[in-house]
Amino acid sequence: MGVVVLGSINLDLTTYVPRLPAPGETLFGTSFITVPGGKGFNQAVAAGRLGATTRFIGRIGDDGFGKEVQSLIAREPVDVSGIAVDPASSTALAVISVDERAENAIIVISGANMAHDMAEVARCEAALADASVLMLQMESPLTISLAAARVARAKGATVLFDPAPATPLPDEAYQLANLMTPNEIETEILVGFRPANVVEAEQAAVILRQRGLETAVIKLGSQGVYYQSANDEGFVPPFAVNAIDTVAAGDAFNGGVAVALSEKRPLAEAIRWGAAAGALATTKPGASSSMPTRAEMLALLDNGS
Ligand code: RIB
Repeated sequence: MGVVVLGSINLDLTTYVPRLPAPGETLFGTSFITVPGGKGFNQAVAAGRLGATTRFIGRIGDDGFGKEVQSLIAREPVDVSGIAVDPASSTALAVISVDERAENAIIVISGANMAHDMAEVARCEAALADASVLMLQMESPLTISLAAARVARAKGATVLFDPAPATPLPDEAYQLANLMTPNEIETEILVGFRPANVVEAEQAAVILRQRGLETAVIKLGSQGVYYQSANDEGFVPPFAVNAIDTVAAGDAFNGGVAVALSEKRPLAEAIRWGAAAGALATTKPGASSSMPTRAEMLALLDNGS
């Protein structure tokens, strides 16, 4: 059973710098890469490379950046026939800096991503005919994502909602999502405090579940991942890797979780798959370019901590 991803696709313009610049400061960078990104497309590449039949639904502009994106994504194991070319919008861009500690700062110009309308929901509905997981994020209009979530739930699919970048959400979002996967910063925006440890992550999960969410998955960065549903709860410690670039690690995490769920694996195993995929994404440069293969993920699961 496959995975459908509805969401953003960006061209990522990524600079590597010794440290992130201060306001008003000019810095020399060390290198620059251009890769396809966007939380939606990164999650689709993660799911595809990790072994799921994956379809991506999104929108780009009819411009030079769009043509560059199209040529770069052709090699990925993702069905991209659900990408519409919108002559009225520009292709989305992300301007990214990554420092020597592997931390990043990202500015997104949303362009065509925020022009999604019910046409994306219709393409999503068609793609869900033979898929069991729908992945959503928040770089495209929430109303359209929620419409797609309603369709997915009606078809019996699992909705994996990544509330990134976060804004406060209506209760319906918690009721439509089967799982949400906020990191610490996103959790703070959703519940009002930033979980600093597992005990606080548990408190945040309880609040999210009181709003109607089935399964809360709180990513604590280098501290690991806490998850809680009605029948299950647990903590997955981080995998030890040599991190060079943390861009899209959260997207890889979601990809791992989605693929495991599409294979009907238990929640605890799905979270471990996500944690392993997320860790591996930090070991390579770029966004979609850093997504691990299934063989790489299984090797880390077998040999990692
Ligand atoms: O999650 C990482 C992604 O955030 C980047 O690929 C960038 O495009 C932004 O959407």
